[in-house]
Amino acid sequence: MVRSIIIDTDPGQDDAVALLLAFASPELNVLGVTTVAGNVPLSLTSKNALKICELARRTDVPVHAGCDRPMDRPLVTAEHVHGKTGLDGSNLPDPSTALAQKHAVDFIIDQVRSNPDKSITLCPLGPLTNIATALTQAPDIAPKIQEIVLMGGGYFEGGNITPVAEFNIYVDPKSADIVLRSGIDITMLPLDATHQAMIRQDWLDHLAAWKTPVGTAVSGMLDFSQRFDVEKYEGKGAPLHDPTVIAYLLDPTLFSGRLINVEIETQSELTLGMTVADWWRVTNRPANVTFIRDINEAAFFDLLTQRLATL
Ligand code: BDR
Ligand code: CA
Repeated sequence: MVRSIIIDTDPGQDDAVALLLAFASPELNVLGVTTVAGNVPLSLTSKNALKICELARRTDVPVHAGCDRPMDRPLVTAEHVHGKTGLDGSNLPDPSTALAQKHAVDFIIDQVRSNPDKSITLCPLGPLTNIATALTQAPDIAPKIQEIVLMGGGYFEGGNITPVAEFNIYVDPKSADIVLRSGIDITMLPLDATHQAMIRQDWLDHLAAWKTPVGTAVSGMLDFSQRFDVEKYEGKGAPLHDPTVIAYLLDPTLFSGRLINVEIETQSELTLGMTVADWWRVTNRPANVTFIRDINEAAFFDLLTQRLATL
């Protein structure tokens, strides 16, 4: 059965690969791409999403720009990882297509309301501002959403932007808190899983050797973004975070985790944005998240390589 999804994203090189993986997968019907401020400001994440739709020859998929800042704090960006444009290393031309008219939040609300109940899965790959704003403006949509599968958080691995916080959650902890309390089925791909999806140089060389537009763009951009992480993780390679969300939809057997309580720290300056995961179920707090802890790395990269080769 084909699954209908909306990808909410802040491209970002790894977001871009996630979009390409979705476009290459006939099991998924991408209803639209919604953009949010995160890795770089909104104008750039929106432009980058359009570039990737063109690269994949999927200009039929509408791109809707969303929130340009977190709910209640200034925007934090990550040019130190992704470069000034957010897609440094890809060398893609400026898009010739335009953004869709509707605000991303209105698009999400309208799609969920106008499609059959529980027929749309949301795939957030950046800060959760658009999703939380939609849930706040239109609380009636929560029970109509099939599932949210998101990249964010981390527990055993600690954080990647502070010692305890992962970037997507740290940028907008209030929105993350709203989403996690929404009662929607949520699966979280945290750093604990994505740190097992490490980019290797020989894989990038393999993609470059295809000499296709997608192979060249993906190898070029990941070669750029991995530099920062190779140094940070002391040569172990760089994690390919966001495509794990799409891979999970395609083959959940590649992943394992637990349905547990996860809550977000929204107050403390020291631990702001921490995803407090009750892995050992030591509280009575209700289970609200399937928290993924492990990934079959070889099978994940096989799947990704096979799919990208079809574009
Ligand atoms: C997340 O932060 C961003 O830099 C990546 O695109 C990914 O979504 C990883 O912490
Ligand atoms: Ca992202």
